[in-house]
Amino acid sequence: MSRVWLIIPVIALLAAGLAAVAWRSASDSHSADLRILFTGETFGELEPCDCAAQMAGGLPARSGFINQQTGPFLLLDTGCVGRGAREFEQFRAKATLRAMKEMGYDAVNIGEHELWLTPAEIRALDKIGVPFVSANVMDADLSALTPTYILIESAGRRIAVTGVVDNAYKQINPSLRVDPPDQAISRFLANLPDDIDTIVVLADLTQQGVRDLAQRFPEIDVILFRGRGDSLPPTLVNRTIIASVYGESRYIADITLIQTPGQPVTAQGRAVLLDNQYTGDPQVTKASIDWYKQQIDGRSFDLSENRPGSPLISPIQAEPGNGYVGSDACIQCHTAVHQNWQSQRHANAMQSLQRSGYDRSPECIVCHVVAYGANDGYISMRKTPNLGNVGCESCHGPGEALLKGACKGIARLSRETDCRQCHYGKHDPDFAFSQDWAIIDHTEPK
Ligand code: HEC
Ligand code: HEC
Ligand code: HEC
Ligand code: HEC
Repeated sequence: MSRVWLIIPVIALLAAGLAAVAWRSASDSHSADLRILFTGETFGELEPCDCAAQMAGGLPARSGFINQQTGPFLLLDTGCVGRGAREFEQFRAKATLRAMKEMGYDAVNIGEHELWLTPAEIRALDKIGVPFVSANVMDADLSALTPTYILIESAGRRIAVTGVVDNAYKQINPSLRVDPPDQAISRFLANLPDDIDTIVVLADLTQQGVRDLAQRFPEIDVILFRGRGDSLPPTLVNRTIIASVYGESRYIADITLIQTPGQPVTAQGRAVLLDNQYTGDPQVTKASIDWYKQQIDGRSFDLSENRPGSPLISPIQAEPGNGYVGSDACIQCHTAVHQNWQSQRHANAMQSLQRSGYDRSPECIVCHVVAYGANDGYISMRKTPNLGNVGCESCHGPGEALLKGACKGIARLSRETDCRQCHYGKHDPDFAFSQDWAIIDHTEPK
């Protein structure tokens, strides 16, 4: 693998003029093909959760795929490395970036989910060593957060890589300034040296926003953008190739730009599903994943901290005199129901997390215990062992008041919507209430 580049980060001045650069005639272009591998919206998914069978993705599989590739290529990311601003989510983003650094990423864009962070937190991510780029995000005090673009020199070709994020997100965070992408791109192009062979823009924009940029700025060779539920194969829009990738670390896109002097740029490529044929290289990702597990070890995270983050389940809050008491408190009166519950997988849900070492990871715990994130719910196996596993109160709500009143008139019956807080999407693609309820049915014979 020969991926030796010279990389120069460049911060363009905000006040620089908006003069359009001359269209670089196609004959200036380099004739060698340019291969680009890119990912996006990793959302801190270090490994597949394995809740359901045969799950793809994760950083080990990504590094396994990258390791198999030979020859020169750029390795880029369209942004949303992490998913939220809560402390554990920032640890996940950092672990992801550590692994991406080991994989040799050349640049990553500031995406929507990075906009939830403070300027200091974004700078901390940038320090990990994968260069962030952005043409339109800066500190609200107008100081630069990251380079505007990086210049990559490889085999005599000079490639400029910049990034933009939708400025519709700018209200997310008043401590950042997010300029309209077209203004930022004009500014970036105006400041670009003349001898650039290829201009690459990483974008967290809607597909329409990407098409508009391509129409307006034919000097851009390729726009790689965040797919949001779909991957777009390389497509020519005016004189620019656009392509996208998505997928919580399940996909990597592999495209090749063909720049023939005198011809419009063309491209080919595909999004590759990182299934289990790409076994990871533990040397590359294990240290980062272990680092994450160390950061969260022995910690409990206050999920009610008022920072935006990934959607977690919203357990019923406890009230004074009605806290969470644990499933064993129900044994004496509901002996048969309790026995039934104990024989079900719900009662052993922590073991599943222990197997993979994610039993302290909030992102997993939420669905595998009682009321994680509620004011009186699960904290840790040490502090609240009676609330580990999916218990009676995961579905029926806090039980303290039930004990006193022997449930008269106050016990809460659970419904399908309760199940769907945990049984949804990739965690249980085949959930069907009647069939799954039949497995755990504990109505008592009347
Ligand atoms: C002191 C005995 C006692 C304890 C302890 C107890 N229950 Fe009950 N529970 C009852 C009785 C009796 C009923 C039937 C009440 C009725 O028919 O009004 C009942 C009914 C229920 C019902 C059905 C309510 C309905 O509307 O049909 C649920 C759900 C329930 N209990 C959950 C729990 C949970 C969860 C716990 C533990 C946190 C618990 N109970 C602890 C005695 C108890
Ligand atoms: C949104 C809720 C949710 C989250 C978050 C979640 N799980 Fe699960 N998990 C489930 C459900 C539901 C099942 C049961 C799926 C089924 O019906 O087969 C499950 C099952 C499992 C199993 C058992 C699989 C088997 O067949 O034995 C493992 C292991 C597991 N999860 C690990 C994890 C890990 C690791 C994480 C975090 C990376 C995680 N889960 C996060 C809901 C969740
Ligand atoms: C995974 C969710 C879930 C868990 C865990 C759970 N239940 Fe239930 N429970 C339900 C649902 C759903 C119903 C049925 C509601 C209905 O009949 O429509 C129910 C019904 C009941 C009833 C009423 C039974 C009847 O004959 O009408 C009792 C009592 C009860 N649960 C007690 C418990 C106790 C005690 C535990 C823990 C040992 C427990 N449940 C664990 C979801 C759950
Ligand atoms: C708090 C989250 C949560 C809620 C609420 C929940 N489950 Fe689960 N459920 C899980 C987890 C996690 C597992 C997997 C446990 C394991 O094996 O680790 C699971 C496993 C199961 C299984 C076993 C899967 C199998 O294939 O054998 C069934 C059945 C099930 N749940 C049904 C239900 C039903 C029905 C409801 C609603 C009445 C419900 N669950 C509510 C989290 C939840």
